[in-house]
Amino acid sequence: MNPNIANQMEEHLANAHILLVDDNPKNLQTLAVMLSEKGYRIGMAQSGSQALKAVELSPPDLILLDIMMPIMDGFEVCRMLKSSVETQKIPVIFLTALADAEDVIRGLDNGAVDYITKPFNISEVVARVRTQLQLKFSAEMLEQKSTEQKELLRILCHDLANTVGVVKTYLSYAKHKPEIYLKRGDTMRLAVGNALETIELVRKLRALGEEKIKLALEPVHLQTCIRDSLTILQEQFSTKNITPIVHVNDEASILADKVSFVNSVLNNILTNAIKFSFPDSQIIIDAEKDNDSIIIKIRDFGIGMPCHLLDKIFDISQITSRQGTNGEVGTGFGMPLMKKFINAYGGTVEVSSWEKVNSEEEHGTEVKLILKDASNSPYSDVFEKIGTKYPSHVEIPTIESPAK
Ligand SMILES: Nc1ncnc2c1ncn2[C@@H]1O[C@H](COP(=O)(O)OP(=O)(O)OP(=O)(O)O)[C@@H](O)[C@H]1O
Ligand SMILES: [Mg+2]
Repeated sequence: MNPNIANQMEEHLANAHILLVDDNPKNLQTLAVMLSEKGYRIGMAQSGSQALKAVELSPPDLILLDIMMPIMDGFEVCRMLKSSVETQKIPVIFLTALADAEDVIRGLDNGAVDYITKPFNISEVVARVRTQLQLKFSAEMLEQKSTEQKELLRILCHDLANTVGVVKTYLSYAKHKPEIYLKRGDTMRLAVGNALETIELVRKLRALGEEKIKLALEPVHLQTCIRDSLTILQEQFSTKNITPIVHVNDEASILADKVSFVNSVLNNILTNAIKFSFPDSQIIIDAEKDNDSIIIKIRDFGIGMPCHLLDKIFDISQITSRQGTNGEVGTGFGMPLMKKFINAYGGTVEVSSWEKVNSEEEHGTEVKLILKDASNSPYSDVFEKIGTKYPSHVEIPTIESPAK
């Protein structure tokens, strides 16, 4: 086993919580002594109903469940645990008398993972408990790994679409208007550069292997990021004749990772803002300092969102995707991905929305990002050296700047 995974497993085992259920206090006592000596945290219940309450209060990692109990027997308790989504994954080991082969079969049919015979044999109890805990934690770690891999894949598939799309669009124009290479060459280079950086970011995150996704955070110059994003999305803005208005102080820097902030945060919020805006409108981006934070607001004047949709936009398992005002389609992954990165920067995101169907005057959506201010961070010297100025030759849409 990979040493990293083995360590994680030992850590899980050391913190494992086991619930013992038996109406006979002597049995409880014997098992509790055996297992607490191995370092497990032990909970005890003397009846089926007590056991269900204990599980609700603090779900254990494993349950050792006696079959023969008055009022509610072990089969009934197990059946109830397995019928609820919250408790069905908790493994149950039945406690049974040696002779009861039928009980063993019935127990396994009811969803138990194993059985232990009475009178208890210490090494058997310890071995069976450890095996079931290892199986449970392996399954959880695999699930976690698979979720992380899916997220990396989503970043690649979803957030490359904007940058690669830009190049595709300009290349298709170039067939008839070769001069586009001169006019939009820088934009194409920026888009391809960002696409490659996104691939590199995913490779780095992937290389972190067994550890949880962590980003190397550094001060990131806000105006540069906004300009990069507006440049990449220039074509989308002009297709709908939408004007971005930017009020962001040139001094403002946030603590983030630049590649994901441009490609997964700003690009996703702005593509949504464009998608759900009406032609000939504006999108306003402003930033203000608030104690140790910088609050960035991105406001569009589009169709807005109903409350029931607003409540779900960060939930990847819910369908939230709608067509844009020009019939644009999406996948519904943009907002959850964006929030994931904001959380990784130690920031928060709030979304407010006013539906056009409810008010003709006041409608649209505002995404508010609250991020750590890095303008005066101890890294700012280093930051100056690596360069914070956006390339002046990049042609960008109308920008009112700076203000505040
Ligand atoms: N600015 C906005 N105005 C109105 N609705 C929005 C806005 N931003 C998001 N939404 C709603 O939230 C949904 C989810 O947004 P999200 O970015 O996660 O996915 P998407 O835009 O549908 O797909 P994709 O990002 O893959 O193109 C949108 O489809 C839309 O219904
Ligand atoms: Mg989107």
